[in-house]
Amino acid sequence: MGWSSWSVYGCDIHEDSIKQQAEAIVNLGLRDLGYTYIDIDDCWMSYERSNGRQTANATLFPSGIGQLSTWLHQRGLKLGLYSDAGSATCQGRAGSLGFEEVDAETYASWGVDLLKYDTCNQPPGTDPKLVYPKMGRALNATGRDIWYMMCEWGHDDPAGWAGQLALANSWRTGNDLMPLYPSFADVAENNARWWQHARPGQYNDPDTLAMGFEFGTAAPLDGNMLTLAETRLYFGLWVIMKAPLVLSVNFAREVRQVPHGQDSASWPRWILDIVSNREAIAINQDPLSAQAHRLWSDASNNSSPSAVFVPPGRLEVWSGPLADGDVALLLVNKGDNLSLINASFALHAPRCASRHMRVRDVWGQRSYGVYNVSFGLKVAPHDGELLRCSCASLRSYR
Ligand code: GLA
Repeated sequence: MGWSSWSVYGCDIHEDSIKQQAEAIVNLGLRDLGYTYIDIDDCWMSYERSNGRQTANATLFPSGIGQLSTWLHQRGLKLGLYSDAGSATCQGRAGSLGFEEVDAETYASWGVDLLKYDTCNQPPGTDPKLVYPKMGRALNATGRDIWYMMCEWGHDDPAGWAGQLALANSWRTGNDLMPLYPSFADVAENNARWWQHARPGQYNDPDTLAMGFEFGTAAPLDGNMLTLAETRLYFGLWVIMKAPLVLSVNFAREVRQVPHGQDSASWPRWILDIVSNREAIAINQDPLSAQAHRLWSDASNNSSPSAVFVPPGRLEVWSGPLADGDVALLLVNKGDNLSLINASFALHAPRCASRHMRVRDVWGQRSYGVYNVSFGLKVAPHDGELLRCSCASLRSYR
């Protein structure tokens, strides 16, 4: 869980703006909720190596990365950096291909806590199953605990090998998303295919939670931002898929109580409320780390819990087990009308023999009560209702 510079600033980064964002994350209470990694994406480094080492761009990071790392650590935050498994990064800065060991040592000496490792500018014939493990081993050899975030765009189906072979903690399953519906819905759909590969410490990564602004400009996309419903669906999908929750939100910009699309000088308070929801975060951070997936859609009414892939529909129910025996559900409406979505307990919680479940509204942080056999809700267009259900005895039925 953390923050990424990419969708907020692109290459227009500076140590001062990174510090401003970090301070805002502390002041808004996000650090204490678990958003601790501050990830500096592409463009922090120079175009050329100096004495064989990657060095920070001195104009953007005049105090150096080591200093910034200390500054972040003093505030209870962690530092994420970016590099690339090619000769140059996607923005043309010095990449790490052939320099894996020396770069991993450099990161460790600066106190880096996460490495995002991208896939641009690789010579033809480069085998990702060789270059990504090389950096994984180099990071491990430093002895420092560094989260290895592979960003191979899903080209070589990394879900099947990134965890074991490359020692990765997470791997991007697809291309970059745009902070708009249906871009995030498509990216989620792609990420969902690999649900069986998520496990504790190793996760499918659909990309960041980019919310509340136009890509790379740090300015809101006027009238074109995600709606409140879409923001809940976006966050709900990432939560239930156990995706890394990396917010690419301009937190240094003023946060206000504004309705959707009405104010271009700030971003709305409801984004903060959604990403700060403790019960949602608890589902995402659940120690079982079982990635939820779609078990029912209106395109396939007769799915069974053993189905590996249920086809997408207009209305869907995604679900996944939690460590304490509860089940997390997301009722998804991809259509344009308010629609009733029913979740069957036999399908989503086959181990609950009583077929009675206590249903909790995670967004509202309140109980709906105990229900028999199924639970249904009317869900708004492009919205996702996040629920936590616990098996209940017959007697508790009301
Ligand atoms: C690629 C990655 C993005 C971002 C940019 C930086 O496109 O997929 O997430 O890191 O590179 O150049």
